[in-house]
Amino acid sequence: MKKHILVIPGDGIGAEVTTWGKKSLEKIATLFGHEFTFDEALMGHVAIEATGAPLPDETLEKAKKSDAILFGAIGHIKYDNDPSAKVRPEQGLLKIRKELGLYANLRPIVLFDELLGASSLKPEILKGSDILFFRELTGDVYFGEKKRSEDRKTASDLMIYSYYEVERIAIKAYEAARNRKKILCSVDKANVLESSRLWREVVQEVAQRYPDVKTEHMFIDNAAMQLIKDPKKFDVVLTANLFGDILTDEASQIAGSMGMLASASVGDKVGFYEPIHGSAHDIAGKGIANPMASILSAALMLEISFGLKDEAKAIVNAVDKTLKQGYRTGDIADSSTPSTHKLGTDAIGKIIIDNLVK
Ligand code: IPM
Ligand code: MG
Repeated sequence: MKKHILVIPGDGIGAEVTTWGKKSLEKIATLFGHEFTFDEALMGHVAIEATGAPLPDETLEKAKKSDAILFGAIGHIKYDNDPSAKVRPEQGLLKIRKELGLYANLRPIVLFDELLGASSLKPEILKGSDILFFRELTGDVYFGEKKRSEDRKTASDLMIYSYYEVERIAIKAYEAARNRKKILCSVDKANVLESSRLWREVVQEVAQRYPDVKTEHMFIDNAAMQLIKDPKKFDVVLTANLFGDILTDEASQIAGSMGMLASASVGDKVGFYEPIHGSAHDIAGKGIANPMASILSAALMLEISFGLKDEAKAIVNAVDKTLKQGYRTGDIADSSTPSTHKLGTDAIGKIIIDNLVK
């Protein structure tokens, strides 16, 4: 198979981890006889520094011409401490999501058995958890009108959804639920928010088209609690942009670490694959970041964008084997299991690539 992949390393630890996502794609190409070509582009703080814009036109053009995109991370501490900055790295990510029509963000929360002890949650609560989040990605307060009063003392972000936006992601989530345990939990705040009442109405309508899937509606506050009380009872979770942003960070603790979680953003055409973690400037450049989320993002790309299931499985198996051999990065190192070895980004990345076989 011939595919052209755009790599956007982005900010902070982005470049360090994306190197390994790319290397795993290269190894897959060699092992399975595919032809993957790569290009690279700037986005985020690095793009602002180089061009003045968080998403340069050139990057967007390259993205539109590619078959899939592997992205690293975005953000810089400088902006976190300066809320008044008009040009911000994150605008690049939001713009590319909108421009490419990436309305569905899939975030699988998969727990490798070896990492049961890495989470701050009790192993018996976690064991057997397997959740697939569908986070809406191009609507909500993220894209609603933003206002600041003239005296700058009042501000608002419009929380807005239209029928078609909810319907199209609900369909994707129901289709996925059909191939899983057939349980879908839609999360909203319909007891308070009008946009959530629309959300619930639409999901109820779409649910009728999928009578084989059991639907539950849950308020976001309750969902945030249930998720760590009993994660096993969730299968597919469907939710809006902001709620999904928050819930999936919380859910990352079910998988042991943010450093393990990959995500796929899909929609109109090209797919966009990235770790759910951020740019982590506190550890950037130290060579200690966990590359597994990027490597697993590459696996999602192979499966979802290219339909290469065996190739995707080979990557997941390589990560699994590496964990079984006892290799860990700092974020998943568990002091209660002294037989594990703590390694840096490149050392563990190399072992995963070596473990990657057909
Ligand atoms: C994410 C991130 C982004 C978001 C930021 C970096 C804009 O937190 O992908 O979850 O809020 O969507
Ligand atoms: Mg987030």
